[in-house]
Amino acid sequence: MRVGIIGCGLIGTRRAKVALDSGDEVIVVADLAEDRAAAVAAATGSRWTASWREVVSRDDLDVVVVSTSNDLLAEASIAALDSGKHVLCEKPLGRNAAEAAAIVRAAETAGRLLKVGFNHRHHPAIAAARELVGQGSIGDVFAIRALYGHGGRAGYEREWRADPARSGGGELLDQGVHIVDLTRWFIGEIDQAQGYVGTFHWPIQPVEDNAFALLRASSGGIVSFHTSWTQWKNAFRFEVLGTTGYLRIDGLGGSYGTEQLTVAKRNEDSSPPIETTTSFEGPDQSWQSEWQEFSTAIKQHRQPLGNGNDGLAAARILDAIYESARSGTAVEVPHT
Ligand SMILES: NC(=O)c1ccc[n+]([C@@H]2O[C@H](COP(=O)([O-])OP(=O)(O)OC[C@H]3O[C@@H](n4cnc5c(N)ncnc54)[C@H](O)[C@@H]3O)[C@@H](O)[C@H]2O)c1
Repeated sequence: MRVGIIGCGLIGTRRAKVALDSGDEVIVVADLAEDRAAAVAAATGSRWTASWREVVSRDDLDVVVVSTSNDLLAEASIAALDSGKHVLCEKPLGRNAAEAAAIVRAAETAGRLLKVGFNHRHHPAIAAARELVGQGSIGDVFAIRALYGHGGRAGYEREWRADPARSGGGELLDQGVHIVDLTRWFIGEIDQAQGYVGTFHWPIQPVEDNAFALLRASSGGIVSFHTSWTQWKNAFRFEVLGTTGYLRIDGLGGSYGTEQLTVAKRNEDSSPPIETTTSFEGPDQSWQSEWQEFSTAIKQHRQPLGNGNDGLAAARILDAIYESARSGTAVEVPHT
């Protein structure tokens, strides 16, 4: 595939390398920060520009990756789709559900594929857990408990993530979107949300550094999660509880600790079950695997895992959690 990258920060740089390593051709990269664009261009043998519009107006690209700060995700993705490219838009697919819906509409109108940067679905422990749930290994899923967080960093208040006009929200939107996406993948659609957000440590008000949410699924199942920028030691934990057993994913590799999947099945006599834990060592392959899925979906003319509708559904849930935090009441999540 011939690829263009808009936004050459941490994630754009990573996506460009993964595309190249996967045998695709990076044609052009763009960033307002010319040194960043030039560095990625040098590493991938591509051209660079400071103008993202130059990328979408080219007619020699199959795919555009949009990995800017959240304020440009919608505008650049829509322009790329309108000009006939398939798009991988980074999570959270815009700053809110209205922006996510506009991107999804543009993809439908253009007849192009839209994938959201939900690489967590491709972490090996998470993918293996989802397969077990699909096989009925733990019965019917009735609850999820999750924790995701890191400790932020000094100077956070000067980053785009702390500017609500550029980010659209704080930690709930930033890492919480992954938890919400995984939640839907494991338990199905969410009907109702109740949430609390707070800014407890970093000088980033009105953006939150902690969020707590309770969700009710259409199936009747219940989800609770906490996302935090004050989790001084990075943490990821995702528990899936079923009627005949449970699964637990701990860690994501690297600073989040070795990725592990623990599985246990209920004993007939209800005695404590024996847990089996599998460790997934080695470097994070989720980005490669996600890119492979995107490129295969394009070739097969099918929707990719973690598509635009998944991004829109997650955005609606996040909007509902923020609304609940503001109003102090439970909020229904719209499905259309
Ligand atoms: N999938 C994941 O797990 C994951 C992880 C981190 C970040 N992200 C997402 O990726 C995106 C980028 O995050 P990041 O951590 O790489 O941020 P970053 O700040 O490192 O990079 C963003 C880049 O976008 C550029 N940019 C901003 N406005 C631009 C414009 N108008 N034209 C051209 N370039 C512009 C900035 O100069 C910067 O280099 C965000 O949407 C974020 O939510 C996803």
